[in-house]
Amino acid sequence: MAKDGAKPLKGAAFDTRAVHAGEQADPTTRAHNLPIYQTATFSFETADEKEAAVDAALAWEPGAFFYTRTSNPTTAALEEKLASLEGAESAIASASGMAAVSASLLAHLKSGDHMVIADDLFIISQLLFAEDFPTRGIEVTPVAITDLDAVRAAMRPNTRVMYAEVLSNPWMRVSDLPVLAEIAHKGKALLVIDNTFLSPAVVRPLELGADLVLHATTKWLSGHGDAIGGVVAGSKSLIDPIRRQTDLLGQAASPFNSWLIARGARTLPLRIERAAENASKLAALLEAHPKVEWVRHPSLASHPDRAVADKVLRGSWGGMLAFKPRAVEGVDPLDAMRAFSDHLRIFGVGVSLGEVDTLVYPMPKRGGIFRISVGIESFDDIAAEFNQALEHVR
Ligand SMILES: Cc1ncc(COP(=O)(O)O)c(C=O)c1O
Repeated sequence: MAKDGAKPLKGAAFDTRAVHAGEQADPTTRAHNLPIYQTATFSFETADEKEAAVDAALAWEPGAFFYTRTSNPTTAALEEKLASLEGAESAIASASGMAAVSASLLAHLKSGDHMVIADDLFIISQLLFAEDFPTRGIEVTPVAITDLDAVRAAMRPNTRVMYAEVLSNPWMRVSDLPVLAEIAHKGKALLVIDNTFLSPAVVRPLELGADLVLHATTKWLSGHGDAIGGVVAGSKSLIDPIRRQTDLLGQAASPFNSWLIARGARTLPLRIERAAENASKLAALLEAHPKVEWVRHPSLASHPDRAVADKVLRGSWGGMLAFKPRAVEGVDPLDAMRAFSDHLRIFGVGVSLGEVDTLVYPMPKRGGIFRISVGIESFDDIAAEFNQALEHVR
């Protein structure tokens, strides 16, 4: 059961906190590893004890448990670890990345409010904002988030939230977080940032002025593709309303998924280091390849937001890249896309990202590009796999 300050981690390095934050020997059994508290409810010696626990949990006090929809010790340990990694006072874990997106915004927006969003976002976030929020009386303006004049012009007196991804999905644009924070705060809006694509090992948006940072923990944080989850981190005063919203909407994380994500997060720094190194090498290989029209990875000098990437990212560029095969006269670009995908022998073709293996996502409806989540395999094998699949693009 995690308690604040259980281990003296103040001042400890990111890699050390990834391993130790939120973790301590179980106080009842002395189990060295984080237990999975696979229980719906908690029982008490007396009615008064039960009442005190319910009151404390519903006042969002850490370490108070009475029912797993509201709070659970395994999930609380994960929350402590992820808050530590994002440099936040508090965090709320939930059932999926979309639970984190929807609960954080529904908690801080009401009918009549306005929201400025990046026009390049994870497609389900886009659908939520464009199709669902307006039916709840929340107005939404999409803007090209790298066009800072357009962002300024989109702000209105009733703008309460600005929302963007640090590295956008799928076009890999880099958001200038310090400037966005300045614009949002001038208009008394919160800057809410989805950091799923990069992870706190690459960038910590709260340090750059964001008010809330969220993730699909399904991706890099868990790292093994075996659990669906989400998290939002920020100050306790901003997280408590999201905790309440998550409870009311019934979006609680399952204890088993929290345990899997906490286990994965321990190795985040090592996995990201390797994936980012492989991604930089693969980006260079693809950029030099005659069958590739363009590649986007923040490590490349050709990236349209190179200067912003230098300012915002921390010398690690993350494991995500996108590329477009070169168009050949007389060849349907979708056939070229199929030829590449269908000749992959080792890597999977599918959605999702941030796993230990390289995952290839063909996007025929979004410009015929490939989004690649680069894994931790040997780079020689990654290079061989891409080179041989590209040979089939004719
Ligand atoms: C950037 C981003 N945010 C949020 C999500 C939603 O996460 P989940 O699938 O866990 O709901 C995803 C999923 O791919 C994503 O890529």
